[in-house]
Formats: sequence, C-alpha cells, structure tokens
Amino acid sequence: MGAVMPADAHERVAPGAPTLGLLTSGGDAPGMNAAIWASCESAARKGWRVVGVESGFQGLLERRHRTLDADLTLPWGRSGGTRLGTSRLADFEVHKPDLDAALDELGIDYLLIYGGNGSANAASRLAERRPVIAVPATIDNDVGDSDAAIGFASAIDAGLVLIDAMRDSAEALPRAFALETLGGDSGYLAAAVAEAGAADIVLVPEAPVGTPELITRLRALLARRGYAVIVASEGYVDLDGTLRQVSEATAMRVRLSRIGHAQRGGRPNAADRRLAHAFARSGVSHLAAGRSGRLVWQRDRAALLPFVADATRRDLPTWALSDG
Ligand code: F6P
Repeated sequence: MGAVMPADAHERVAPGAPTLGLLTSGGDAPGMNAAIWASCESAARKGWRVVGVESGFQGLLERRHRTLDADLTLPWGRSGGTRLGTSRLADFEVHKPDLDAALDELGIDYLLIYGGNGSANAASRLAERRPVIAVPATIDNDVGDSDAAIGFASAIDAGLVLIDAMRDSAEALPRAFALETLGGDSGYLAAAVAEAGAADIVLVPEAPVGTPELITRLRALLARRGYAVIVASEGYVDLDGTLRQVSEATAMRVRLSRIGHAQRGGRPNAADRRLAHAFARSGVSHLAAGRSGRLVWQRDRAALLPFVADATRRDLPTWALSDG
C-alpha cells in the first residue's frame, strides 16, 4: 500500500497501454470534475492512457473526445458542473450499436460513466461489449442502493443556505415559508435539505401528506411558534395547488421559493470531493481487477459500538492508505 498522493504517481504511458474512457452523463453534479481528476490520477498509476468523451452520450455519437491526464485536470477539481460536458440522450437503445462502434473507434478498453440512474442503466447495456463501471453522480441521489452520490452533499448545502436565510426572515417577521428543491421525481434531496435545515414539514412524492393533515400541522406550528418552514421536492404533485389551499385555510400565505438549477451548480464541497476521489479510485481499481457491469456504491448508516477501554481511533482509514 502506498501513501495517499505519492510523488511518482505519473508514470509514463507505455506503448499499447489500455485506454480508460471517462464520460459524464445526464444532469451535471458538483464533484464530477474532481472525479475526472481522480480517475486520471488512478489511471496514471496503472500506466493507462485516458480519453475523455465530450458532451456525454450525444458527444460519443459524434466521436467528440480529448486526451486527459492528471496534471491537465487537477485544476478542474475545484469547479462545479463537468468540464467534459454532458447530455441527455433520448432513445439510447436506438443508438446503442453506434455507441458501441464509437467506443471501438476511440480505442476505449475500459469505461467509467459518471451520472444518475439513467446513465447507470446505459452503462449496464454497454458493459455487454467491454468492461464498464458506473459511478453515481447526481444531486438526486437516487441510484441503486447507494446512500451516496457525487454532488448530493453540495446540493444539500445549496438548499441549506436558503433554509437558514428563510428562517432568519421567518423569525423576524413570522410567516410560513416553503422551499422547493430539485430532485426530479425523487424526494431524497428535499428530505436531506429538510433534515439538515431542521424544517418542520417535508413534502416528497414518495410520501404525500394529505392536505387536511398539512393544514392541521401548519395551524399548530403557527399557533405555537408563529412561523413554519416547509421543504418540498419539485416532484411533489401540485405543490402550488396544495400551498394555495393551505394558505386559504390558515389565513397565512405560504411564501414559496424555488431554488431551481442554482442548486445543481457551484463548487463541490469537501464531502463531494472526497467522495468523488474515493469513487473514482474504486471504479478504476475494480476495472483493473477485471470487474464490469457494476455500480460503485456506499452505505453509510449510524451504528452502535460497545464501549472499549480506550475510544481513541489510531488506525488510518482505508481510503487514506489505498493507492487505488
Ligand atoms: O440531474 C438531476 C436533475 O437536476 C433533477 O434534480 C432535475 O429535475 C433535472 O435534473 C433537471 O433537468 P434539466 O437540467 O434537464 O432541466
């Protein structure tokens, strides 16, 4: 095992070395650029060359690509979005033969795909022809069984800034406020923003609250504290109509803010950069070990440990020791 960042990481690419393809797909997510860098860094340690596909699957159809390396991509890691560009490709199945042909033409031996659940589905089909691993990178955090996706933590932060600001105003001039987050048809992002921001009520498509119940809860909060903070996912059915009914019933207009795509951009926070680096290293090392057709994932639950004589942790965690 080596240290985290050995000085000799950038070995020369040998003639005939395998080529790792990197592709970002679907909605961009903060940390995708950090993942691109870490993929290049890990590939360099294996002596692989790296090709970045530009503009996702649409760009792959057009054979748009560029050679990447760790030194080139290191400055990218601090920025949001994806410097490779991305796209949403309709009719994947129609294009699948040409996507396979494009990967052959670009000489891509291994492929890492960063994106959401649609991208992971596409990855599983492409894995029929070559080694492919998918890495969850979506602010929606709705990929497979993974508790973590690159970009999720930064998107929570973006929502949290607004919740905190709303609460300042609500405490000063008591009213009911609602924040609508992104998240597509999934409520994970809204639920996480609500949890982090200690919101009073969360409205997600997976667990709709009946309007009468919402009115009762809001009335109680307004009577007790004078204000309430609601977080709703954009996928919540008829949010505007629901809030209108609630406003009428409580005689207090619920002021709604929509964060929109501002939640998806911006600099990746520390958690997303670490996750991006860890997921990228994991993806490259699994490909190198001959694994394919899999999704990198992580479970992260609170657990209970018995007391021991000395509770100080002394080992370095595996991520700090792994050389990918
Ligand atoms: O990438 C996921 C996501 O940001 C969802 O949260 C959102 O509903 C969707 O993408 C927006 O898609 P688009 O950028 O195509 O409008």
